Amino acid sequence: MPKLTPLPKTLRGKDYIETKDWTVKEIELALKTAADLKKKFKTGKPHRHLPDKTVFLFFFDKSTRTRNSFEAGATQLGGHAHFIAAETSQVAHGESPKDMGIILSSYGHAIAIRHDLLPGEGNSYMRKVAEHATVPVLNMQCDIDHPFQTLADLMTIREEFGTKLRRRKIAVSWAYAPSYAKPMSVPQGLITLMPRFGLDVVLAHPPEYALMKSEVEYARKAAAENGTSFEIVDNMEEAFEGADVVYPKSWGIESMFQNPKDALEISKRYKHWICDEQKMKLAKKEAIYMHCLPADRGYEVTDGVIDGPQSRVFPEAENRLHTCKSVMALTM
Ligand code: CP
Repeated sequence: MPKLTPLPKTLRGKDYIETKDWTVKEIELALKTAADLKKKFKTGKPHRHLPDKTVFLFFFDKSTRTRNSFEAGATQLGGHAHFIAAETSQVAHGESPKDMGIILSSYGHAIAIRHDLLPGEGNSYMRKVAEHATVPVLNMQCDIDHPFQTLADLMTIREEFGTKLRRRKIAVSWAYAPSYAKPMSVPQGLITLMPRFGLDVVLAHPPEYALMKSEVEYARKAAAENGTSFEIVDNMEEAFEGADVVYPKSWGIESMFQNPKDALEISKRYKHWICDEQKMKLAKKEAIYMHCLPADRGYEVTDGVIDGPQSRVFPEAENRLHTCKSVMALTM
């Protein structure tokens, strides 16, 4: 068996709860490692950086990509991902995040958590676990950020346009979806990460769908500090104008996540917020369409766009595997 080149140890033991918690240099290391691991995966080269290590996957919500990329990724790294549905654990009876953090730390090497359904809850839960855990806490999506998703998104954008993204524009737009009130964490993760990596960001949403104040303020500050721009508009068309990347997706109303019936009624006013072939024409010719998935086909986006030549949703979903392996391999 050929010897593995060891990975840098600078991120060992570090939590990954928001991309804001990591410096640009640390995120660059994660992206470089993801690209190396992707090459090794594609060429069948060994990369078992986590032999005999366990990551606990604690889910308060459903998942396709996140759960499977962590489970497959941990196996490929020589370790094990242990799935726990929160409702089948003692957390459902009120066991504290402190006790959870201490106990799971004594059984394994990282605690990954998805807790994204209610604004004000998931991120603070993770931070409480992290306060008491002695292993890294990894955010598989909370109410504020989805840092594994946006890392994969940045990797996908760089694969398309290279690392020099200055003056490239990303349109992050709300879109109509009848399925459920999707968390606000993906658009928030995008507007806070992309201005740090050279992209100009335009955010579009109907008036009821404002993102959390703290995240909008961070995005403004990040854009000002990095010589990029951040602006908010109230229609998808304006956001798409001249964009290199369009990322239209649905999210819920911050104050109405506990009131889905009324929230759905409000969202019906904005059924015309769909990404279709006409709107794609407003973006640059070489623009790409992205979505974290799952998408409400026929509502958020037409089949023609999501299955069309500008769509990058499947490479984007694939990159969830490589970025998740990178962060696990570097932190665990
Ligand atoms: N994009 C994403 O997080 O997908 P899942 O909800 O399926 O994990």
